[in-house]
Amino acid sequence: MMNCTRTLALLAACVLPMGMAAQTPTLTVQASQVTAKVSPTLYGLMTEEINYSYDGGIYGELIRDRVIGRGFGSLTHWPMVARGNSHVSITADETTGPSTALPRSLKVSVTAASTSSPAGVENDGYWGIPVRPNALYSGSFWAKTDSPDTDVTVTLQNDKTGVVAAKAVVSGLSRKWKQYTYMLKTGNVPVTADNHLILTIAKPATLWFNLVSLFPPTYHNRVHGNRIDLMEKLAAMHPKFLRLPGGNYLEGDHIDQRFDWKKTIGPWVDRPTHQSPWRYRSSDGMGLLEFMEWCEDLHMQPVLAVYAGYSLQQQHVNPGADLEPYVLEALDEIEYVTGGPETKWGAERVKDGHAAPFPLKYVEVGNEDEFDHSHSYDGRFAQFYKAIKAKYPNLEIIATAPVKSVMPDVYDEHFYMSAEKSFSMANHYDDYGRNGPKVFVGEWATREGDPTPDLQAALGDAAWMTGLERNSDLIVMASYAPLFVNVNPGGMQWSTDLIGYNALTSYGSPSYWAQVMFASNLGTEVVKSMLDDAGPRVFESATRDAEKHKLYIKVVNATSETKPLTIHIEGAGKVGSEATLTTLSGKTPNVTNSITDPRAVVPMTHNIALTGEKFTYGFAPYSINVLELNY
Ligand code: AHR
Repeated sequence: MMNCTRTLALLAACVLPMGMAAQTPTLTVQASQVTAKVSPTLYGLMTEEINYSYDGGIYGELIRDRVIGRGFGSLTHWPMVARGNSHVSITADETTGPSTALPRSLKVSVTAASTSSPAGVENDGYWGIPVRPNALYSGSFWAKTDSPDTDVTVTLQNDKTGVVAAKAVVSGLSRKWKQYTYMLKTGNVPVTADNHLILTIAKPATLWFNLVSLFPPTYHNRVHGNRIDLMEKLAAMHPKFLRLPGGNYLEGDHIDQRFDWKKTIGPWVDRPTHQSPWRYRSSDGMGLLEFMEWCEDLHMQPVLAVYAGYSLQQQHVNPGADLEPYVLEALDEIEYVTGGPETKWGAERVKDGHAAPFPLKYVEVGNEDEFDHSHSYDGRFAQFYKAIKAKYPNLEIIATAPVKSVMPDVYDEHFYMSAEKSFSMANHYDDYGRNGPKVFVGEWATREGDPTPDLQAALGDAAWMTGLERNSDLIVMASYAPLFVNVNPGGMQWSTDLIGYNALTSYGSPSYWAQVMFASNLGTEVVKSMLDDAGPRVFESATRDAEKHKLYIKVVNATSETKPLTIHIEGAGKVGSEATLTTLSGKTPNVTNSITDPRAVVPMTHNIALTGEKFTYGFAPYSINVLELNY
């Protein structure tokens, strides 16, 4: 029908023969008709300890089960090492540990050992320990011994080739619990994850260990900071906020398994760790301060979710006097984040190493509280709302379920959808009331693909995002969930996660790329746009940035056919002769990225020549498109 081939269509807007334009659906963009301001915080991140997102994920720690103690299994990741004719036995010792918070330890009893036949323990990391050439790793452990002056040799060794990547000796252990540090510098070794960290001694002695740690170089060189590749992937999403510490992870299965923030700050040795609802125990290395520093590093504002007296196994705290301690806990938490050094908890933060208060605008009370069968949320929310507003009138308070007693500033809605559902929900917010609270879509995802979403899911996501964007006067923030998955066997508790990784590398799913495309081309104002006769499964939105004289048009073609659209830009004055088109597409909807094929579906950008304010373009089958025009 058109006088341009698909190849040509990728290079230039197609000019249709006279008379044929009428058959082509039209997307009219009225560039001077602003219908809403785009929320500058529209796109952000939601995370929690699920799918080994922190331990074994973004948190840089390489040693698995660095804490020895209850809930960390039977030393599964701490096998014995006995070289030559040495002899060693290990046990989890319940009677001694480095602190009240960590009262247990790994007891290593070496009854025969020598320089040529050392003995000790090793750790296999989170499905391997990644080693890179010419890199500096910083480590530490807490230990004591019955034979003072015992030296511990720490070795990073390839478990397949036996090649030692780095070695250090920690000298002079004493009878008292103490922390020791070491550095490991690799030479010209190959990049591999097939490594163990080995701790050995060369003479008979008994040692007790806890908090054995090893960190690679981290993002912004933060001490005990985050993994570089994952932080870079997040930075590319231009996230404006981080919802923390999570959904279910905030609540815990039981009240004593909630994210009890006071137990996640200060030195590791004072963090008792806790059981998460996602079936493994959290080291709490990613504690409240680390979340805030993560925000700082990516210039995101925190959306601080406070525990609100409901845990997943239907445990709740009655509003009133019973709830008061939890309200105070939340107020203290806000003070830790925002308080000056003159405040009790602000001073605590300063002591923990961060002098400046963090900016905070949003506090969320609980998570998905409609699941509380006792229906206590209305009362619980009101109690938190009043107490927080009384002390912090400028904070905006987010509710997680409908409430009547007070009007929340923002209401958090969650959507987990099939692609079909996402398509059908693209207009969900178009007619949504504007007189109630603003909306935070705190969790959403099109759930097709495993462990990470495929192109079909990305098409659903993009269709849904056109609706978020069009309605971003109402929707102040939106965040996909879950964000991360460790793709190793046993790493995933929830399928369809935005970014996948193993110990060495990571990849973005097609859905990830769709978000990068949308967030990188957001604009500041929504402009009126109308799509006529394009048929089902075609979606669009249009925004502009008047200061930059840019127009951003998003088109999602979720059909199996090339979709020619005549784009008519009205009211923009002169439109530039060239536009930039970024397209994410694939031959079939189930194409995807994976750890072994990380770039099968990635956006491609090229310039297209325009033929004025009205031009026709054939959008590829199964494609997500962002057209950036100058005006
Ligand atoms: O994102 C996974 C889970 O889904 C969250 O923890 C919870 O809030 C929701 O039910």
